[in-house]
Amino acid sequence: MAIVLVITRVTMLPILMLLFTFPPSVLSFTFMQLPLPSPAMGPESYAFYRGEGPYTGVGDGRTLKYAGPNAGFLDYAYNTPNRSKAVCDGNTNPSLGPTCGRPLGIGFLLRTGELYIADAYLGLVVVGTNGRLARPLANSAEGQTFRLPDGLDIDQLRRQVYFTDASAVFSLSEIPLAVAANDATGRLLRYDIETNTTTVLLRNLSGPAGVALAPDCRFVLVTEYIAKRVQKYWLTGPRANTSEVLVTFQGMPDNIKRTPAGDYYWVAVSIPMPNAVTQPMAVRIDGFGRILTSFSLSDQYYNKTISEVQEYGPALYIGSMDTDFVGKYYF
Ligand SMILES: *[C@@H]1O[C@H](CO)[C@@H](O)[C@H](O)[C@H]1NC(C)=O
Ligand SMILES: *[C@@H]1O[C@H](CO)[C@@H](O)[C@H](O)[C@H]1NC(C)=O
Ligand SMILES: *[C@@H]1O[C@H](CO)[C@@H](O)[C@H](O)[C@H]1NC(C)=O
Ligand SMILES: *[C@@H]1O[C@H](CO)[C@@H](O)[C@H](O)[C@H]1NC(C)=O
Ligand SMILES: *[C@@H]1O[C@H](CO)[C@@H](O)[C@H](O)[C@H]1NC(C)=O
Repeated sequence: MAIVLVITRVTMLPILMLLFTFPPSVLSFTFMQLPLPSPAMGPESYAFYRGEGPYTGVGDGRTLKYAGPNAGFLDYAYNTPNRSKAVCDGNTNPSLGPTCGRPLGIGFLLRTGELYIADAYLGLVVVGTNGRLARPLANSAEGQTFRLPDGLDIDQLRRQVYFTDASAVFSLSEIPLAVAANDATGRLLRYDIETNTTTVLLRNLSGPAGVALAPDCRFVLVTEYIAKRVQKYWLTGPRANTSEVLVTFQGMPDNIKRTPAGDYYWVAVSIPMPNAVTQPMAVRIDGFGRILTSFSLSDQYYNKTISEVQEYGPALYIGSMDTDFVGKYYF
């Protein structure tokens, strides 16, 4: 498969400009924390189904479902048959990762209510409509075992799951090493639900963390955390099977999520600042890579990286590997 890299648009905005591009309405946001059940940490990504949720994967391997302000988050799914709550709940030890699991990207197949999960240790798995134990679907492609499955989005019409393997070398606990090594062994993949086969779409990606399909699935956007940019991979049309760099950021982009309406995408970007401070930013781009909105979340996430910004209903849901709550902005 020919991969053509064409740099059409590289946007390098100075930080100050980024800070001043938000619309005034952002100033009136109110922020709410939905607490996770102790000791769960790290709601990395969100999914919703028929108005219910958010569902989110946490650091100790569970997927939780928000059941309202009184019940809070309840256990929904787990990814290995040998996961025990006694050993795994609250676990932060990476060597227990293969036993406990670690859901990162999640997404519902809306027709059936099945939840597809990119698990950092176990590969692509799926869980049925009542949650509980997931079943494995894929843990390698072209003979190469996944090392760090991460972002996920679903083509609902064609029943295809787009997901990333962020590195062929470094695992979840080794991300700082991957950044230091400038790793470029990540892949963009597509799992076909009908045929149970996985296809490699892009190779040599530098920390592919998030993936988002266009409204009509003409293209798919993939973030590169280490290369600090977003690539657009065309799925149809004359440029099908080729990719181009869409936009470059000053910080590391993690997940990218399309808004419910239109060709707009929220990207969670963490910018390294002087004195080892991290500046978490919510950035909204369009399908041409133009930055439309961008604002800092430092008041709520001081010096923390954020992993996701997802618009749902009247709110933006903020994900982070470093918090014990789900952040919710009303606007
Ligand atoms: C738990 O299961 C996973 C695969 O499902 C395996 O890799 C791991 O070694 C198992 N752990 C234990 C302690 O049996
Ligand atoms: C799907 O393919 C994987 C290998 O990639 C295999 O292990 C698994 O059994 C297959 N599942 C079904 C339902 O055919
Ligand atoms: C891209 O990755 C492949 C392995 O998947 C490797 O053989 C090749 O050398 C890489 N190409 C570049 C330009 O790094
Ligand atoms: C893209 O790749 C697919 C599968 O390999 C192929 O069927 C299709 O013709 C390709 N399209 C273009 C425009 O190259
Ligand atoms: C921000 O966090 C990093 C590590 O996460 C730490 O090294 C640094 O000292 C922190 N900076 C401040 C100002 O707290």
